[in-house]
Amino acid sequence: MNEFKTKYGPWAIVTGASSGIGKAFSEHLAKKGINIVAVARNKENLRKLQSCIEDQYAVKVKTIALDLYEPNAAVKIGELTSDVDVGLVIANAGIQNHGLFSESTDVDELKLLALNVSGPMQLSHIFAKRLKLRGKGGILFTSSGFGYQGVPYFANYSASKAYLITLGEALNVELKPYGIDVTVISPGYTNTPMAEGTPIDFNKMPIPQQQPELVARVGLHALGKKATVVPGLINKALVWGNRLIPRIWPTKLLGLLIGYARIDDRVDVNL
Ligand SMILES: NC(=O)c1ccc[n+]([C@@H]2O[C@H](COP(=O)([O-])OP(=O)(O)OC[C@H]3O[C@@H](n4cnc5c(N)ncnc54)[C@H](OP(=O)(O)O)[C@@H]3O)[C@@H](O)[C@H]2O)c1
Repeated sequence: MNEFKTKYGPWAIVTGASSGIGKAFSEHLAKKGINIVAVARNKENLRKLQSCIEDQYAVKVKTIALDLYEPNAAVKIGELTSDVDVGLVIANAGIQNHGLFSESTDVDELKLLALNVSGPMQLSHIFAKRLKLRGKGGILFTSSGFGYQGVPYFANYSASKAYLITLGEALNVELKPYGIDVTVISPGYTNTPMAEGTPIDFNKMPIPQQQPELVARVGLHALGKKATVVPGLINKALVWGNRLIPRIWPTKLLGLLIGYARIDDRVDVNL
């Protein structure tokens, strides 16, 4: 049995598995011989993922069609996986609001916090306890390069992703003595439905587009080695560069760039 499977198998939970980066995580894990608990709302996409993975690899896929906005969604995931031995939890699902914070609704901003902050926190809390009992395992959070500074027009989104970076760093140290590896991956602009729906002309932004397969591969490779990881040299350089300059500079620069690259100035929230 390979080392990865021994430590993080036999089952992994992936939230947001129905598309984009979560789907790529599921496919990479299946290649490594790990069974998947795929969580998302879209039943049809989950069913397709299940048959695609089970047809190609000798693993099982259990699907949980669940709106993570529901109160105690993480508790439900815990209950629905009580019959399988989970070694890895990937808190990947997230949503993005964009536009002027002062003009969005509190319902939309609170929904974002439920999906991007409370959900991953509660899931990691439940599984930190479970993984501790088995003495090995991993937790992987999907944050964002936007989490490394405040980002105008994505204010609550960037703040929610900063939370995950801080939570993951702390848990990396806290859980290490119990054999649990915690990593936060912070992708840049990645070719997924979420990015496609963002009203920004990314050609006007000096950032490369990445593929979800690369992001998933880098995240899984970093487990057990790094507390935080940023895929891609340019994205890494941007994050490292932030440390050398006053905190507000990258925020001002991103405000200018996003203002320039916005496709329209409608206040559109909730992709
Ligand atoms: N794409 C980028 O450029 C980029 C960059 C940095 C970070 N990220 C982060 O990467 C993560 C994955 O995003 P992605 O780019 O792969 O986007 P995506 O393709 O739109 O995937 C989002 C996933 O989250 C699920 N999801 C959304 N709302 C949900 C809800 N209420 N309940 C349950 N599941 C829900 C979606 O499934 P259903 O619709 O079926 O529920 C889908 O599987 C997010 O945390 C995002 O913030 C993305």
